[in-house]
Amino acid sequence: MAGLLPCATVAVLLLAILPSPSTAGDPDLLQDICVADLTSAVKVNGFSCKAAVTEDDFYFKGLAAAGNTSNTYGSVVTGANVEKVPGLNTLGVSMSRIDYAPGGLNPPHTHPRATEMVFVLQGTLDVGFITTGNKLYTKTISAGDVFVFPRGLVHFQRNSGESPAAVISAFNSQLPGTQSLATTLFAASPEVPNAVLTKALQVGTKEVEKIKSRLAPKKS
Ligand SMILES: *[C@@H]1O[C@H](CO)[C@@H](O)[C@H](O)[C@H]1NC(C)=O
Repeated sequence: MAGLLPCATVAVLLLAILPSPSTAGDPDLLQDICVADLTSAVKVNGFSCKAAVTEDDFYFKGLAAAGNTSNTYGSVVTGANVEKVPGLNTLGVSMSRIDYAPGGLNPPHTHPRATEMVFVLQGTLDVGFITTGNKLYTKTISAGDVFVFPRGLVHFQRNSGESPAAVISAFNSQLPGTQSLATTLFAASPEVPNAVLTKALQVGTKEVEKIKSRLAPKKS
């Protein structure tokens, strides 16, 4: 019993002192605003601040209308991140809108720098994420519902209804980054060697090349 208090005190102190990667988002800001100079050649962690700032640096109309879902996956992500809203630089948050045709899929992907929280505007979606312990957490969500995809974990959303669906996503990063599993493995440039993919996926070169040809960036 006597040893319990010091132990707990040390644990609390350690928690207070140590950086906590599991709760960390983007780094804290050091001034009121640092509107991104997206054209600057200066490379820093984030973007350098521009001198002439207006209210339009904090404004974006791009989430108002549904995006065009006429593509292979039947879904489209419209970002409202620092690349579209330069005023977000150093603020550690961003949003996006995702539209889905009936049956449309936002294929399995991760955001290395952010947790994502979706709010369903319309429609019904089957959503899920997979932990590093390989457990799938999945749920059917519809208009008004919220669902969370923890930072870095592979996740997906599929429109399981018969009408278009749409969500608004919130992120605790100004630029969450997206790594989509299929395109990462099969449409990287230069290509991931077939020997890596055949061994990893336990299939032949023919199957790997078939997927590569389907996912290859469209040549125009
Ligand atoms: C949507 O995208 C498709 C394919 O790129 C295109 O043919 C179509 O005109 C677009 N529709 C609208 C409303 O922009």
